[in-house]
Amino acid sequence: MKVFVAGATGVLGRRAVARMVAAGHEVTGVARTPEKAASLRAIGVTPVTVDVFDAGAVKDAVAGHDAVCNLATHIPPTLMAAMPGSWAQNDRIRTEVSRNLVDAALVTGATRYVQESIAFLYADEGDGWLDEDSPIVPVGYVESTLVAEAEAARFTATSAGGAGVVLRFGLFHGPDSNSTIETVALARRGIAAAVGEPDAYQAFVTTDDAAAAVLAALDEGVGAGVYNVVDDEPLTRTDYAAALAGAVGRSSLRLPPKVATKLGGSKTGLLGRSQRVSNRRFVAASGWRPSSPSAREAWPKIVAEMGEPPAQPRLSGFVRAALASVGAGYALLGAWALVAPQGFFDTFPGGGHHWVDVDGPFNEHLVRDFGALNLAVAFVLLVAAVKGGRTLVRTAAVASLLWSAPHLAYHLAHTDVLPGLADRVSNLSSLALTVVLPVAALVISQRWPASPKSPAVAGAMVR
Ligand SMILES: NC(=O)c1ccc[n+]([C@@H]2O[C@H](COP(=O)([O-])OP(=O)(O)OC[C@H]3O[C@@H](n4cnc5c(N)ncnc54)[C@H](OP(=O)(O)O)[C@@H]3O)[C@@H](O)[C@H]2O)c1
Repeated sequence: MKVFVAGATGVLGRRAVARMVAAGHEVTGVARTPEKAASLRAIGVTPVTVDVFDAGAVKDAVAGHDAVCNLATHIPPTLMAAMPGSWAQNDRIRTEVSRNLVDAALVTGATRYVQESIAFLYADEGDGWLDEDSPIVPVGYVESTLVAEAEAARFTATSAGGAGVVLRFGLFHGPDSNSTIETVALARRGIAAAVGEPDAYQAFVTTDDAAAAVLAALDEGVGAGVYNVVDDEPLTRTDYAAALAGAVGRSSLRLPPKVATKLGGSKTGLLGRSQRVSNRRFVAASGWRPSSPSAREAWPKIVAEMGEPPAQPRLSGFVRAALASVGAGYALLGAWALVAPQGFFDTFPGGGHHWVDVDGPFNEHLVRDFGALNLAVAFVLLVAAVKGGRTLVRTAAVASLLWSAPHLAYHLAHTDVLPGLADRVSNLSSLALTVVLPVAALVISQRWPASPKSPAVAGAMVR
């Protein structure tokens, strides 16, 4: 069968196309860079460079194929996932690219269209099993996913006997998946990255098993429709955390506090639901079985495949703690000044002391701007504290110093503004810390190994 795959270079896609080639299919995969084209060619896939948002170009590229798979996504990094607009590109891919691919598949007379979807779109049903007909709550990124699913249904309805197949995948686990890498890194620090109630279920699938499901979905025996592709036994957050703990060699992991689910709004809210999703329909239709029946079997294999964690650079814990403490201070300061500028001006730092209103008149504009800029610096510092890495740590330290050094210099030159010695000492010592800690971070990180270049720069397939 001649198969066209969008998203062939992704975490799922590159495994799926390798399996297709091994099964004897002739595969064309979309590659956006020469390096990715070369990596597809190396595994027997014919690369094609096409703008998947250009309907005409997609029709030309898809012409002559028997089957079309849409495995393209653009999931934002975990730290950005709650930011406004962070899902816009993914929404565009789900809606426009699915439409373009289905139009092209219809024009060329393909008989099969496979669409990647997600299994974490169902309503919370506690410990009840969920199948493909269970209620869905169409919020957040689920909306565009449902549009993509509707495109697959349009293919079924409009093609001459063709089948549109939707695969609703559980959360991916794979040694090269960004989310897995972050999950394992947190687990090694004693934290389970699993929002929601301890007894809530969550459905997973390994990227290898997901790729096997994509291949199975090409078989004409699998009828048109929607299928859950998850492992056999979704675990509760508690059991999941225990499995992950064992895999990273810890006795247990802490689940995040409930507030973590609330902070991300609808995005993490979706992931926080109890979703005990069943794979029975797909197993019956295709004969596919997950090689890892649950996260209990999956985690040890994945962690072993990932190998030993890279050695932490010298004093990395101290550097991260230093950036985190300065960042947390700026975050508090910034939020206060931005949200309640008059209160901040009148009463900072609190406890009956006055460090701001003693030095010039109130100006709401300036105080709010001061608050917002503090939050901006705090954001950079806190991301650097969580992610680490030489480049990010040093960037954050310099950004922080560009603010804190002139601030300290001003106060050193105006010590007379504050009324008493105690105020002067605590003012200057707290400001000195905001300079000393980033300087320490800069000095220590100078000898750290260079951060890996981004995939775009290195042209590497390292998600
Ligand atoms: N069910 C799940 O849990 C689930 C589902 C999806 C993703 N994820 C996770 O989220 C992380 C990031 O996902 P991701 O979606 O960024 O990467 P990904 O899953 O690794 O791959 C996405 C694929 O779509 C392609 N693509 C993206 N934007 C495109 C565009 N504008 N034009 C053409 N092709 C495009 C990518 O091409 P390039 O290689 O050129 O970028 C890549 O081939 C991954 O670690 C993955 O595990 C999880």
